[in-house]
Amino acid sequence: MCETRQSGLKGVSVASVIVNTPIRSGFWRFILNLDAAGSRLFSQAIPGQFAEFDLSSAPLPPAESIPPHLRDRAAKQILLRRPFSFSDISIIHSAEGDCVKLEGIYCVLGPATLRMTNLKIGDQISILGPLGNGFTVPEDLATAVLVIGGMGAPPILHLAHDLKQKHPAMENIAFVGARTFESLPFQLRIGNKTGIVIEDFERLGITAHVATDDGSAGAKGFITEKLRLWLDQNTPDPDHTVIYACGPEPMLKQCAAIAEQTNIPCQVSMERMMACGIGLCQSCAVRVKQEKQEDPEYRLCCQDGPVFDSRRVLFKTVNA
Ligand SMILES: Cc1cc2nc3c(=O)[nH]c(=O)nc-3n(C[C@H](O)[C@H](O)[C@H](O)COP(=O)(O)OP(=O)(O)OC[C@H]3O[C@@H](n4cnc5c(N)ncnc54)[C@H](O)[C@@H]3O)c2cc1C
Ligand code: FES
Repeated sequence: MCETRQSGLKGVSVASVIVNTPIRSGFWRFILNLDAAGSRLFSQAIPGQFAEFDLSSAPLPPAESIPPHLRDRAAKQILLRRPFSFSDISIIHSAEGDCVKLEGIYCVLGPATLRMTNLKIGDQISILGPLGNGFTVPEDLATAVLVIGGMGAPPILHLAHDLKQKHPAMENIAFVGARTFESLPFQLRIGNKTGIVIEDFERLGITAHVATDDGSAGAKGFITEKLRLWLDQNTPDPDHTVIYACGPEPMLKQCAAIAEQTNIPCQVSMERMMACGIGLCQSCAVRVKQEKQEDPEYRLCCQDGPVFDSRRVLFKTVNA
């Protein structure tokens, strides 16, 4: 039905819902199969790229299943598409042709994500993508240090899948932080000796260190403290190591500071409100240093990002 060909283009395609299920309170997981046009577009998509979903025609879930804190927002009309990253992209080969499968995780926050929870198997949505630049993996990379803060999980998980598949000998280590146990957007279990186990990383054979602000899962404190400690103790070669981070801006700022101190390159995936996703509305500006001049300039998160070299970003927030 679908076929795959190389393409660097973006466009609108139709995605069919294969899986849409809660992972744990407030977090859901989806799998979508793309039509032929979408499969062509997404067959070359890389981790960190995203798509804009049109959820305007999806119906709201029944009133009794809308959490009380979202009831006021639920009825709001959805005029704009919403951006979502992916936790994996794979190609299903079949006699009818190849078909691209998109997997993701979402947090239920407002009218669009509430409607998303009501999508049933076989429902179709329109998606625009792949958008943005994605992460860069240097050819001589030996160690990938993956840092997640809360809902920064999907693009970093996608990168972890990609690295395992394309660079099986590479050393990967993950650092996962959240405010509390409840705000970790993963399937979790309690390991006998290791404490909290994030099953997505366990399946990939990647050790994941966990920290929460209140200590309800993993170590108590910011995950960047764990990152700093690990780098101090393990001193990976800065010429063959990259820190990849996605999460709240204070965490990204802290990762950038650690990267500068350890001389390790760092790529941060930034989040901005995105009205169009394709460079038209200018709503997603990120302030960056210019290469040769002192004055800062603005780059578009949807087009020039969402992934930026941390050395160039002028972060908004003061402290982690
Ligand atoms: C590149 C990119 C990739 C993303 N990937 C994912 C993903 O994989 N999974 C996921 O759950 N979410 C992701 N998001 C965020 C997601 O787009 C929003 O949560 C979603 O649009 C919320 O829509 P809503 O109508 O349900 O809620 P809204 O009512 O639109 O928003 C609910 C609350 O979230 C805030 N918010 C919404 N979007 C953003 C944003 N971009 N930046 C900061 N605050 C925001 C709003 O201010 C509001 O307070 C991504 C955002 C970007 C920019
Ligand atoms: S979201 Fe419109 S320019 Fe980036």
